[in-house]
Amino acid sequence: MSLLDRITALEAELNAATARTADEVEQFRVAMLGRNGRVTALFDDFKQVAAEEKRALGQRMNVLKQQAQQRLDELKGALSQETTSTGPVLDLSAPARTGHTGSLHPITIVRQRIVDIFARMGFTVSQGPEVEDDRHNFSALNFPPDHPARDMQDTFFVKGGDLALRTHTSSVQVRVMEGQRPPIRTISPGRVYRNEAISARAHCMFHQVEALYVDKNVSFADLKGTLDHFTKSLFGAEVRIRMRPSYFPFTEPSAEVDMSCTVCGGSGCNLCKHSGWVEIMGCGMVDPAVLANCDINPEEYSGFALGMGVERITQLIYRVPDLRMYWENDVRFLDQFTAATFRS
Ligand code: DAH
Repeated sequence: MSLLDRITALEAELNAATARTADEVEQFRVAMLGRNGRVTALFDDFKQVAAEEKRALGQRMNVLKQQAQQRLDELKGALSQETTSTGPVLDLSAPARTGHTGSLHPITIVRQRIVDIFARMGFTVSQGPEVEDDRHNFSALNFPPDHPARDMQDTFFVKGGDLALRTHTSSVQVRVMEGQRPPIRTISPGRVYRNEAISARAHCMFHQVEALYVDKNVSFADLKGTLDHFTKSLFGAEVRIRMRPSYFPFTEPSAEVDMSCTVCGGSGCNLCKHSGWVEIMGCGMVDPAVLANCDINPEEYSGFALGMGVERITQLIYRVPDLRMYWENDVRFLDQFTAATFRS
């Protein structure tokens, strides 16, 4: 057999070689590349080749040697750690490897929980567009034309036209009251947008849940009772609330709702800035002008509305220290939340 034929034959053998154990890999190394191995033997015979053939054949020989080395590395690499000289080790009692299971985003968990609590009180869920017009986001809600909340600082305007990204879910109140007659009991969860610099405490997009109740004889006492039931359902029976007078263009009177601090129970800590209270939402009696803007007779009907930030509520439940974490989608963060937090 010519040297060339022997090279070609060996190449085929190298490619076909297999090894199941470390011993077999070593046998392959000795048989091919060892001192008396077949590749080595070829190099010995190469010395007898005529000078004019040496150049071309020499190149083939070098390639062959590289192939042999490469195949050896491959066979070694293919042996897993679970293999010994007697063959693969199978630990039949080893626990199965589980795949990564996804989980709900904490905002989704808390939003769903809020919806559930209101649903049990007879509230339906309504939605509106995230790109909203001036009437629904501002003017029907009684914002005067020069109100600072319409300022370029806060609102993302959409080029050409009077559209903007909604700055709050109160816009859905207007849409519902335009399309339905009282009694109305609805909540509107959704994303809102504000032109804010992003930091641990502020973001340009977040989530709110709005609630609206319009009927005959709806009173401030109904609002307070609803708030009390809601906060106790979400945070626990020991929680107390208080209302502070406030201002919103679309409610009169308006209030901000504080809840006794869930960390210290009211005695004072960092979360509540040593006041014992944390702010959780805004609310009030729907301004008669807003009802009239939606063709609901304020002489006949009254209502209350409230709006809360879902990120804020989520922070109080799960102690998330930085608003940016909600958007980073780091699985190490996302894996920590489970709906089992809530039992009811
Ligand atoms: N829309 C208000 C905001 O974005 C929150 C709010 C306050 C909603 C009072 C209400 C309300 O329905 O009555 O800050």
